[in-house]
Amino acid sequence: MAVSIKSKREIELMREAGKILAEVHNILRDFVKPGISTLEIDKKGEEIIRKHKCIPSFLNYDGYPGSICCSVNDQVVHGIPNRNTILKSGDIISLDAGVIYEGYHSDAARTWPVGEISTEAEQLIRVTRESFFEALKVCRAGHHLNEIGATVEDYITGYGYSAVRDLVGHGIGTSLHEDPQICNFRQAIRGIRLQPGMTLAVEPMINMGRSEVRWCDDDWTVVTADGSLSAHYENTILITEDEPEILSLIQ
Ligand code: MF3
Ligand code: CO
Repeated sequence: MAVSIKSKREIELMREAGKILAEVHNILRDFVKPGISTLEIDKKGEEIIRKHKCIPSFLNYDGYPGSICCSVNDQVVHGIPNRNTILKSGDIISLDAGVIYEGYHSDAARTWPVGEISTEAEQLIRVTRESFFEALKVCRAGHHLNEIGATVEDYITGYGYSAVRDLVGHGIGTSLHEDPQICNFRQAIRGIRLQPGMTLAVEPMINMGRSEVRWCDDDWTVVTADGSLSAHYENTILITEDEPEILSLIQ
């Protein structure tokens, strides 16, 4: 499938979808505390999304049972919210959420500390976030798609971390997942040339240890194979004539 170029009107709607999602994350950031369950986070997130007259895009996607993916510690992505997973000080939690506003999607993820965390965990969260902003520098018209993954991988391997290879970022618009797929690691194939009007979900998933992951018995939760911590940082962005615009972030 060709990569879609959004019209002015579509970009306006995606801006709104992104702004609402940024707000969801900002509220959930303060909601994350020792003692609360991932189900409570999911319910809170869903409530905010619906209050803005949006639809939580993950709910029932391929049968996924929540609105907010809640992935704790060695869980990489797609952790299922449940009342028995209670956060404790020292945990890290990756929250991934998507909203649909008037038919247009936004998708964003953040990893937050719970209470006091180790300096190692703090560094993992920071470097994962930084790798997104490094990659953003090549998210410009004329650059090739594979520069994104190369930039992420080069940045995080400097810390001894590894990028997950079995999951990728993606185009986004009237569907949650559109072409192209966006790897977070080096690839020989250059891929498409980025063009103004493309909207992309760039989402480094970074493991403190090895890159291998496995799927749990629930068929959703992805964990690191070596049990090491994992962090996730994602935004929906717009390629423009010059600086990319981050749609799902309120600065
Ligand atoms: N950010 C994730 C992605 O891009 C979220 C999908 S979770 C699902 O695939 F529940 F919707 F599957
Ligand atoms: Co995504």
